[in-house]
Amino acid sequence: MTHKQWTEVDRYITDLLVPPDPVLNATLQASDAVGLPPHNVSPNQGKLLMLLALIHRARTILEIGTLGGYSTIWLARALPTDGRLITLESNPQHAEVARENIARAGLADIVQVRLGPAIDTLSQLATEGQHPFDLIFIDADKPSNPEYFAWALKLSRRGSLIIADNVVRNGAVIEANSVDPNVQGVRRFNELLSAETRVSATAIQTVGSKGYDGFAIAVVTSDN
Ligand code: SAH
Ligand code: DHB
Ligand code: MG
Repeated sequence: MTHKQWTEVDRYITDLLVPPDPVLNATLQASDAVGLPPHNVSPNQGKLLMLLALIHRARTILEIGTLGGYSTIWLARALPTDGRLITLESNPQHAEVARENIARAGLADIVQVRLGPAIDTLSQLATEGQHPFDLIFIDADKPSNPEYFAWALKLSRRGSLIIADNVVRNGAVIEANSVDPNVQGVRRFNELLSAETRVSATAIQTVGSKGYDGFAIAVVTSDN
């Protein structure tokens, strides 16, 4: 099995189940045009995020790692009109592109892009009392995943869903002695998930146009 085949099957799935969407296409085009890296989730993954938020009837969503707002738009589309999504981004150019994309998607009223290192903006959110969030999507710098998980728990309630992208990393996640700080961040995150008595969690390997990777998903099972 090759990346080419995974990509072709992703296309097959997307052609059937993820209808062409001018707003999402424009989001990717605008992001690409100014040189943002193509690190957004794939269309069928984006739709999975939207479906999870819908199944969960999420009204408040926190995203860590905005990029051009592609996953943001998918998630925000699951929200009711009085819902809200806060997304955290440290790169000013990414945040600017995301704000334009989110406005084009008609979601500016319910989505707020917060510029700054997530460690700082997470602590601001806690101080402001913006929590709890019904769903938290962790998808920023992987070395910080352990800290982001700790914040996700603080900003949760019983029943909150915590989802993390990129937890398999082409299989490198099993390399205990990896010198890759991304791998070590994800390994530490997975270990925290394992040890944390306040969540019930699993992880799923994925293949597709984004290569071989995976999602972790956790439900907060106790009142914090
Ligand atoms: N969730 C997006 C992809 C995010 S890519 C999607 O699927 O469409 C990761 C993003 O995290 C990048 O835009 C990067 O600039 C941002 N990032 C990296 N380090 C960060 C930090 N310390 N705080 C906040 N954002 C960060
Ligand atoms: C990459 C992919 C991601 O989903 C992400 O969040 C960061 C980087 C990548 O392909 O390098
Ligand atoms: Mg990702």
